[in-house]
Amino acid sequence: MDQLTLRKPDDWHLHLRDGAMLDAVVPWTARQFGRAIVMPNLLPPVTTVAQALAYKARILAAVPGGLEFTPLMTAYLTDGTDADELARGFEDGVFAAVKLYPAGATTNSASGLTDISKATAVLERMQKIGMPLLVHGEVTDPAVDIFDREAVFIERVMIPLRKDFPELKVVFEHVTTRQAVDYVSAADAHTAATITVHHLMINRNAIFQGGIRPHMYCLPIAKREEHRQALRQAATSGKPNFFLGTDSAPHPRHTKETGCGCAGLFTAVAAIELYAQVFDEEGALANLEAFASLNGPAFYGLAPNSQTLTLARMAQTVPAHVDLPGGEAIVNFKGGEQIPWSISGAAAVPAD
Ligand code: NCD
Ligand code: ZN
Ligand code: ZN
Repeated sequence: MDQLTLRKPDDWHLHLRDGAMLDAVVPWTARQFGRAIVMPNLLPPVTTVAQALAYKARILAAVPGGLEFTPLMTAYLTDGTDADELARGFEDGVFAAVKLYPAGATTNSASGLTDISKATAVLERMQKIGMPLLVHGEVTDPAVDIFDREAVFIERVMIPLRKDFPELKVVFEHVTTRQAVDYVSAADAHTAATITVHHLMINRNAIFQGGIRPHMYCLPIAKREEHRQALRQAATSGKPNFFLGTDSAPHPRHTKETGCGCAGLFTAVAAIELYAQVFDEEGALANLEAFASLNGPAFYGLAPNSQTLTLARMAQTVPAHVDLPGGEAIVNFKGGEQIPWSISGAAAVPAD
């Protein structure tokens, strides 16, 4: 198979930031994805309907002419979140979901939930109205090894959460372990997981290859090879509770190449092409459409995109970086490397 046409895919976990960074990254996502779940971890976080509407307008203003792209907005869950505000935003079609960051777990999570018990009323309401909860699934207990934080989260938070709110739609975001894959595989239709392309492509050795590699550092941190293999099996299985979420998380180069670098990989420049490469390597191109374009909408109760996207087995070189004003740049995942798949008929660099 040298060419593959699928329903236009969606990205169910994406960071777009704001300002000049937003303007620089949006075109790359809009050229390949019809919709994206936009993470609310701005400073300050997106917590109100008014903030989400204003942010959505800024995103739409950054979409290049001729491209159709719909941002799906999320609300950042804090200890003080008001259930009425969330419900109003969901019913008005502004909020697609709520994002739970355990306080301190990752980039811009300082306003996150300090304890899941603080959100009982909110979660009850979400369960009732069918509003999905998206979870950064890592414990923040400093006594837990960084490579174990996801697996421990399943025991300490996920299992009790599912027991207390069995009908709540929960997405275990960016799963990185065999334990999370096994947990989600065995769960019912109310539980799903997103899988990033970088966790399908790298294991933890990549962070230390010949020296410390800050551009390979993200959270949850990449794990051992056995976990990457489990992720590849789950993603390519066609099972309905696994779908595409890049977690593309741009940071200016100087904030990664420093004494205490930010977590996050920027993968938006060639995400669907890299997923295609993984599915091709696994002999599972026939399941790419389910993972990238069908399973996500089905979970969220939305129709798949009506447009299509055609991928071709045609090598391209990923640009090394995306430039920002003032000489800054974002370093691309696989930047400068040749990759085997391209979007058919699309220029590698979106036109302004
Ligand atoms: C994300 C970011 O930079 O916002 N970073 C990351 O390493 N994935 C936050 C997140 O998704 O945890
Ligand atoms: Zn996260
Ligand atoms: Zn993320």
